[in-house]
Amino acid sequence: MDKAKHIWMDGKLVAWDDANIHILTHTLHYGNGVFEGTRAYMTESGLAIFKLREHTKRLLNSAKITRIKPNFSLEELERAHIELLQSNDFKANVYIRPIIYLGYGIMGLNHVKAPVNTAIAAWQWGSYLGDEGLEKGIRVKISSFTRNPVSSTMGKAKAAANYLNSQMAKYEAIEAGYEEALLLDAEGFIAEGSGECFFIVRDGVLISPPNDTSLESITQGMVLQLARDAGIEIQRRRITRDEVYIADEAFFTGTAAEVTPIRDVDNYVIGDGKRGPMTEQLQKAYFDVVYGRNPKYKHFLTFI
Ligand SMILES: Cc1ncc(COP(=O)(O)O)c(C=O)c1O
Repeated sequence: MDKAKHIWMDGKLVAWDDANIHILTHTLHYGNGVFEGTRAYMTESGLAIFKLREHTKRLLNSAKITRIKPNFSLEELERAHIELLQSNDFKANVYIRPIIYLGYGIMGLNHVKAPVNTAIAAWQWGSYLGDEGLEKGIRVKISSFTRNPVSSTMGKAKAAANYLNSQMAKYEAIEAGYEEALLLDAEGFIAEGSGECFFIVRDGVLISPPNDTSLESITQGMVLQLARDAGIEIQRRRITRDEVYIADEAFFTGTAAEVTPIRDVDNYVIGDGKRGPMTEQLQKAYFDVVYGRNPKYKHFLTFI
């Protein structure tokens, strides 16, 4: 991991190596902490955060869902992101990780009296699933793990505890020789990847499942908007695994994964086994937005 100069902790810029917490930090033990994954891109006019407002709102919504009272407001958190990026001398694209967590002071499950802390870290980070993956597509395995069911887990919260499910699925997929996992919901329909939403293309129609058992993905929303702009027919409906196997194209979307083509699922070759034409079109359109090359969506960028 590329170290940066500073990490923002509860209003202060702290040297990267000094950004430490106590071993009895509540979140570390019970998993109730909420975070975001946000990206800043090096555009022609310098570093710019993509959809800062949406990510910060989702962070605060996640806190609300998991009954954490944030210690900073939306505006304060947005300013903190900017201050942090200004204080670090980044030369390339950056990944930003804000986290609201329960700190040190009490133990036991009842967290009502636990102190609330907030930190924001940022570091230079390239493509999550590899540059080759972005171009040629990745290999995906349908997970033996069911996506956290809505009856027991609140998946609209980007909460640390929810990611044990993702982490186990990802581990299993990589150990089996794949690059990413695709999880089914409790009824057997496609839910999402371990950290991405999922799309297929069939006969020119773009299909993505509803967000019933997935995060409300900011990238998915952007890609759907770009598809609408391009006049592509869209369906939001459930997808079965056999439908995935016979899709013409498939891809993942996520802040980290961006728009990553999928070239096979469970060893079934998808389409021609490479990035499909609609995937390429939407991937290019997405990169045009985040790099500030699409004037229609420049307002989604916060320049540093
Ligand atoms: C479980 C999960 N689903 C989907 C996504 C994609 O969401 P977004 O596009 O907002 O990054 C992420 C990443 O944040 C995720 O962790």
